[in-house]
Amino acid sequence: MRVVSGIKPTGNLHLGNYLGAVKQWVAMQDDIQAKGGETMYFIADLHGLTEWITPAAMAANTIEMTATLIAAGIDPDRSILFNQTRVSAHSELGWLLNNVARVGWLNRMTQFKDKAGKNREGASVGLYDYPVLMAADVLLYNATHVPVGEDQKQHLELARDIATKFNNDYERELFTLPEPLISGAAPRIMSLRDGSAKMSKSNPSEMSLVKLIDSDEMIAEKFRKAKTDPDVLPETMEGLEGRAEARNLITIYAALSDRAPDDVLAQFAGKGFGAFKPELADLAVATLGPIRERLTRLLDDRGEVGRILERGAEKARDLAAPLLLDVQRTMGLQI
Ligand code: TYM
Repeated sequence: MRVVSGIKPTGNLHLGNYLGAVKQWVAMQDDIQAKGGETMYFIADLHGLTEWITPAAMAANTIEMTATLIAAGIDPDRSILFNQTRVSAHSELGWLLNNVARVGWLNRMTQFKDKAGKNREGASVGLYDYPVLMAADVLLYNATHVPVGEDQKQHLELARDIATKFNNDYERELFTLPEPLISGAAPRIMSLRDGSAKMSKSNPSEMSLVKLIDSDEMIAEKFRKAKTDPDVLPETMEGLEGRAEARNLITIYAALSDRAPDDVLAQFAGKGFGAFKPELADLAVATLGPIRERLTRLLDDRGEVGRILERGAEKARDLAAPLLLDVQRTMGLQI
């Protein structure tokens, strides 16, 4: 069993990334390793380039995202933690797989359509080709499981299609088909300002997302001002049909406290948001505060964070090299 997943260094980690992906990554470090498997997590800096980012922001964000993952519980002595750029096999396999993936497959990717918007002609080729590099990221290590939020599921299905076509075309079971693992508790955390939009780093409203570096006061204020409705809370999630913002806040509370949403509602049924929001804010501060404190300490020594990435990359390069060579030979390269 090998777990592989990545995150872009496009800004600070937010509650959606944390509850949808990183919290699972930390849990898997224990579960998978207890079963003799391996966990590999990386900063997807090459994917971060697909939308404009200044060189200074790229460099700072890569270090800060690495430190945030460590502060959130990823242990670089137990998981392989690195950035894509340092393991050039990602780019090399990405190019090889470009010749397996079909244009029609990429045309169906909803993330590209959302991000490119109306200006498709002006989108980078990297943004279009993004899912092929992502396929390379996981196929390179024969990943068996890939823990991600729901928004990445389509990309992983494409990775499976690419692996299947390669195996068929070259008549070899070379690639393992990776299984997406979507967090049951928080597959899709929504914006605090709009229950129909996902919480995202690219949302221009600061109040729409809780970042792991936000101060306790800021976290409390964001939840206090979160959009809700005047109704009281029902006894079960079924009673929240059509109340997207309310659903989202209950989901966040449940995911933060490792409880079932119906269990949370049993506690708050009949109460309004005036009573619920302060409790949610306290819970978020209690969970995120210690992560922020560890992060602040780690950022005192940015050089050490860079060295951690290099040590992780050395291990990743050793794992990647034989598979890349096998793919190249299979394709008639490396004669
Ligand atoms: P990125 O950086 O956008 O997000 C990192 C992880 O956070 C999840 N996520 C969410 N989950 C729940 N609710 C939300 N509002 C929310 N927002 C983000 C994402 O699903 C993701 O799991 N393409 C990936 C990075 C990547 C990758 C890979 C992942 C590159 N190569 C290979 C897995 C395997 C991405 O954009 O993540």
